[in-house]
Amino acid sequence: MCKEAALEVSLFNCIFIGKILLYDNRYLCKRKDSMAKKEKKEQQVLKFDAIRPFGPTIVKGKLPDFLVKLMDDKATKMMNDKEHSKKFDHAPHLAGNVKQETRFDPEWLGSEEAQPMIHLIGEMVKSYISIPPANETISPEFIGQMVVESMWAVSQYAGDFNPFHIHEGQLSGVFYLRVPKSLPEEYAKEDHYPTVGDICWFNGQAATFSGHKFQHSPKVGDIFLFPNWLAHGVYPFRTKNEERRSVSFNLQLIKKEKDPQVGNAETARRKEFYKEKK
Ligand SMILES: [Fe+2]
Repeated sequence: MCKEAALEVSLFNCIFIGKILLYDNRYLCKRKDSMAKKEKKEQQVLKFDAIRPFGPTIVKGKLPDFLVKLMDDKATKMMNDKEHSKKFDHAPHLAGNVKQETRFDPEWLGSEEAQPMIHLIGEMVKSYISIPPANETISPEFIGQMVVESMWAVSQYAGDFNPFHIHEGQLSGVFYLRVPKSLPEEYAKEDHYPTVGDICWFNGQAATFSGHKFQHSPKVGDIFLFPNWLAHGVYPFRTKNEERRSVSFNLQLIKKEKDPQVGNAETARRKEFYKEKK
């Protein structure tokens, strides 16, 4: 059927014929004009909702400048301290092929100085567990405590990379303290599928109408929370004498009391649904 002919037939005929021109709203505009009195009703009919209940959630935030400085200064201090670097060397426990990976001293994480960072993570966690579908598996009102199991700085130089891996804990996170200035230039030189210095999360498999990966070019201060089991990796960059510095962490969420909804979130949701209908 030619383009003009397709526009002449009614919308429903078009659907059955199987050829309509998407994004050409001339017919719908005409229909609204001729049914001006019912315009409001028509708009309701044309409102669609996306229902996306499947898959893991990634939450993104931004560190204020003072926290970037606090954590960067602390990371520099501990990585330059040979005794600390040796005692808290985290590389044997990690997948990364990177120059240096050093754990923060748990005592420091409990100190007054670290509290602004820990509290920001706590606020992010509260936001995370209130967003569906995350709140279908762990109800926010039953979470009493957040424990930072571990936190470590990753210092990455030209050619270093982090193979795809998962974490321990329940929720994991990463934030960025230094990003090489050369990255945009390097990125522009890659003529297809640019990846320089990016982090990429993968879930499930490629499928029509479904996402299976999220790739991000980090900026200083970006912070992400994601489930510990969500696979991710970091691509290398090439420019010498540049550092990409990030901090990763693993969290456990401790329940303050028995959660009656565990394993039964769908039933609870249905009960609410029918209560509203009554
Ligand atoms: Fe990681």
